[in-house]
Amino acid sequence: MPQHDVLIIGAGLAGQRAALAAADAGATVAIMSKVHPVRSHSVAAAGGINAAINPADDWRSHAFDTVKGSDFLGDQDAIEVMCREAPHEILHLEHIGVTFHRNEKGELDLRAFGGASMKRTAYVADITGQAILHVLYEQLMKYHETVARYEEWFTTSLIQDDDGTCVGCVARDIRTGVMETFTAKNVILASGGAGQCYKPTTNGLIVTGDGIAQAYRIGAPLMDMEMVQYHPTTLVENGFLITEGARGEGAHLLNAHGERFMEKTAPNKMELASRDVVSRAEQIEINEGRGVGPGGAGIALDVTVVPKKRVHEALREIVNIGKDFAGVDITAEPIIIRPGQHYIMGGVKTDIDGATPIEGLYAAGEVACVSVHGGNRLGANSLLDTLIFGRRSGEHAAARAAGMSMPTLSDEQMHADAAWIDEIIGRGRGGRRISEIKEELGTTMNQYCAVFRDAEGLDKAHEVVRRLKEEARTAYIDDRGTVFNQDVLGAIELGYMLDCAESIVVAAIERKESRGAQYRTDFPERNDEQWLKHIDIKVNGDDTPKVTYSPVTITQWQPEERKY
Ligand code: FUM
Repeated sequence: MPQHDVLIIGAGLAGQRAALAAADAGATVAIMSKVHPVRSHSVAAAGGINAAINPADDWRSHAFDTVKGSDFLGDQDAIEVMCREAPHEILHLEHIGVTFHRNEKGELDLRAFGGASMKRTAYVADITGQAILHVLYEQLMKYHETVARYEEWFTTSLIQDDDGTCVGCVARDIRTGVMETFTAKNVILASGGAGQCYKPTTNGLIVTGDGIAQAYRIGAPLMDMEMVQYHPTTLVENGFLITEGARGEGAHLLNAHGERFMEKTAPNKMELASRDVVSRAEQIEINEGRGVGPGGAGIALDVTVVPKKRVHEALREIVNIGKDFAGVDITAEPIIIRPGQHYIMGGVKTDIDGATPIEGLYAAGEVACVSVHGGNRLGANSLLDTLIFGRRSGEHAAARAAGMSMPTLSDEQMHADAAWIDEIIGRGRGGRRISEIKEELGTTMNQYCAVFRDAEGLDKAHEVVRRLKEEARTAYIDDRGTVFNQDVLGAIELGYMLDCAESIVVAAIERKESRGAQYRTDFPERNDEQWLKHIDIKVNGDDTPKVTYSPVTITQWQPEERKY
């Protein structure tokens, strides 16, 4: 039975950063992922990473912009940590080989991004996540003696001892179907968000809420789950991400009358207001008949106002995406976009060291809710979040491991999970297909739990999710084999997505105000008196999840009206 001081589940930026930090701190480490690490979803993060590295900038200004962006729901102690540690992290990345763009003076260049009071986004063209991910993976190669890699292993359960401490996991080798129990003094979840609960989404097919649901199922609280980010610029046809870097470089948003409509909502920041504000403004234009494209369902993103040379240098990936997925040359004509699901601010509740309320269980990156993003995440703060809290989790888990002996585990959970998989494989064809249920889930969430929400729609979404949960119990698959059986993993992922979707909907029903990404048309005002608090969601058997509240940590910035 494999044994490790620190077992990390998920090998995107948070996971790899945690692995390197834990190994540096002397722990024996393993990193496990259901895909090859460089195919983790961090690879899709495009526009950059924020840090106050300009001498005229200050981490406090970055922190205030983040607090304001969060609509004052972010925990300010965590935001301070993230913003204070950001410059050092960027320099560390530079030193280990990330080729950040440099300006003519040879200094690290910074671009503008939404909700920021000055240029503070470091970038590698519009492939920043990919560039960082590859460099961290190179670093992991150097650590091959202390960091074991389980690539293409799928986690089915977290394991707890009799006291409730997390002591490992059960996983399946996707290549062979072999199941294994992994013993660990600490487990760090770094398995990303749950964007596939929505259709369309900018998120890859692998982003199915696995870690969020696994932690939830063993009793960890989820926090801020109602806060789901719609990115202002996703391709109208298919939801592909068009980076905010485009607007950072000066691109305009135009309605059917050719108006820069952001003037009405955010006259100072225009297209670079925070994402929740821009997405709402776009949706209003579309809803009120001023949209463009087929059915007036989109908005024009005009990149032609950016000099061509700069587009080819700094936005080359979206030049390709425009051509390949919309048949548009963005240097010559506007491209049609709309708001699309992109990110989940909520996740497994943690402290500033990544520790969850379950002893031995940590979480970092999009799976976690520290909460540095509160009601709305600023663009280019997600890469930062993964790296800062990935590192801190790795360090803290390693320190905890140093003072304890290896837990002793049986294979009981492994046998239970193997039986569960056999049951899925053995199902008759009486039920629905997994893909049909997933499709209905995604379109329901996108209809009722999107940029605008109300009680009637949310209740309907909850009803659908509860029914889909029932139907998922008998849903059937076609592949009955053991080698690369993605079908059976799809059935398990569907269960994870349904748990995440239910917690999102329940929290959205609960929060009877508008704040950040949650805009309730039936409660259109922010209500600090009653709702300046986090919503925590806990498993409640088969019943609707249990809701409690926890306070928002305020250090130096009192809530005020948000204007851009
Ligand atoms: O638009 C983007 O490049 C996305 C960045 C982010 O979500 O941080």
